[in-house]
Amino acid sequence: MNLFNKNHAYGFVSKFFHWIMAFMLIGAWLMGNFHGDVGSWKRTFIITHYTLGIIVFILVGFRLVWRFKNITPKPVKKNKWLNFVSNSVFTFFYSLMFLMPLSGYIMMNFRGRSPTFFGYKIPALFEKNVEWKKFAYETHEILGIILLVLFIMHVAAALYHHYVRKDLTLKRMLFFK
Ligand code: HEM
Ligand code: HEM
Repeated sequence: MNLFNKNHAYGFVSKFFHWIMAFMLIGAWLMGNFHGDVGSWKRTFIITHYTLGIIVFILVGFRLVWRFKNITPKPVKKNKWLNFVSNSVFTFFYSLMFLMPLSGYIMMNFRGRSPTFFGYKIPALFEKNVEWKKFAYETHEILGIILLVLFIMHVAAALYHHYVRKDLTLKRMLFFK
């Protein structure tokens, strides 16, 4: 398997970034939403939530560098409108990979708390602020809803390509054919 992308294929590194980060985003999203419903697991969920979010924030920088230094595979079929929608979803996804962790961190600063990353406290950049903490929480919550909507659209598109159009879009993002 090639490390680099080609004109019509994703290489190993892009696939690895795609799946590891999809997994982490889904995990962070679920743990953010359901930490209140898991009884004694609550603390583990919330700490893992911060940790996954911070790893996503670190990785997305490397992922973007890799994306810009590489060829981006051409869409399997040319369709001006659909290609525009799919590229917009990618752009929103990348923005959310920065904004979700950032908004979570700022929210915690405003609450007067510091998140931990593998046990280490991350120092706060902003002071506790009761007026802004609700706004920061709502921002994090709304971004989470946008992420969910985009995720549903993205998965629906992948399945549509695979089962209805029967083209190679999904297969070329998988490790095994
Ligand atoms: C990939 C990144 C992340 C995603 C997808 C994500 C998603 C979410 C979601 C969906 C919620 C539930 C919101 C609700 O109650 O409706 C949540 C809650 C929360 N998130 Fe995140 N988050 C991410 C990163 C972070 C980071 C890095 C931090 C802190 C450094 C953080 C701190 C929090 C906190 C404290 C809550 C609980 C709010 C509460 O219930 O009082 N998040 N997150
Ligand atoms: C939150 C989870 C996910 C995120 C953030 C995400 C993000 C992305 C991004 C940014 C791309 C563009 C290629 C790149 O820059 O790496 C992409 C491509 C792709 N994703 Fe996802 N993805 C997620 C989950 C999934 C899932 C669950 C599936 C399969 C059901 C999937 C199937 C695909 C396919 C087939 C492509 C290639 C599209 C093409 O060649 O035009 N993704 N994804």
